Amino acid sequence: MKGVILAGGLGTRLFPLTKITNKHLLPVYDQPMIYYPIRTLVNAGIDDIMIVTGGRKSGDFLSLLGNGKDFGLKHLNYTYQEGEGGIAEALGLCAHWAQGDSVAVVLGDNLIERNIIDPVAAFREQGQGAKILLKEVHDPQRFGVARLEGDKVIEIIEKPKVPPSNLAVIGIYMYDDRVWNIIEDLEPSDRGELEITDVNNWYIKDGTMTYGVLDGWWTDAGTFESLFSASKLVAEGGANHVD
Ligand code: G1P
Repeated sequence: MKGVILAGGLGTRLFPLTKITNKHLLPVYDQPMIYYPIRTLVNAGIDDIMIVTGGRKSGDFLSLLGNGKDFGLKHLNYTYQEGEGGIAEALGLCAHWAQGDSVAVVLGDNLIERNIIDPVAAFREQGQGAKILLKEVHDPQRFGVARLEGDKVIEIIEKPKVPPSNLAVIGIYMYDDRVWNIIEDLEPSDRGELEITDVNNWYIKDGTMTYGVLDGWWTDAGTFESLFSASKLVAEGGANHVD
């Protein structure tokens, strides 16, 4: 299984912090934000990783991360997303590299307290389709939200005004190698982006989407409030625990 970290975008919700740099290079407590999603993948045994950068100061990723030695890696792959085409478009840039393999995708501003060792093992066992991870939140309007029927996810709604549940779809996704064709067939949403939620709804319709509920805390770090609370959570107890 290959790993992809999406670290592009202009980070406009964090202006002026992101006026001269990339959001994922900002500090979360004592480390650059991008360190956390890299650890999430490496701790789950995924060591063939592509980082999709974009926006400002993308060259700084290379200076910061090099070949990933600090994470026990021998090599890191990099690519660049032009403009603001959305999460699914950014993932699509990895097609040439990842085709023929399954992929675990982590949004570069998503941090977790623990690890994804079990869900990754479950997805390997599943063999095909996709897997998402859900987490109960108090502000579901900010996220993709799962609609459940019994214990099945029947739909994901992106940033709903009236959320069908308080279960956010966190920014960690696993896909089989059909994902590249699915992305190619996507149409841009109202905000002009290729949405990862449309990819997930494709797998739900196909009947091959499974989900897990994440253990431990999860947070994004793309707004002032969430960046601040991410730093506090890390300061209080650390992130990416494996035991
Ligand atoms: C993205 C996804 C959303 C998901 C969230 C997790 O939203 O579109 O479905 O719940 O990441 O962080 P964004 O933060 O890019 O608006």
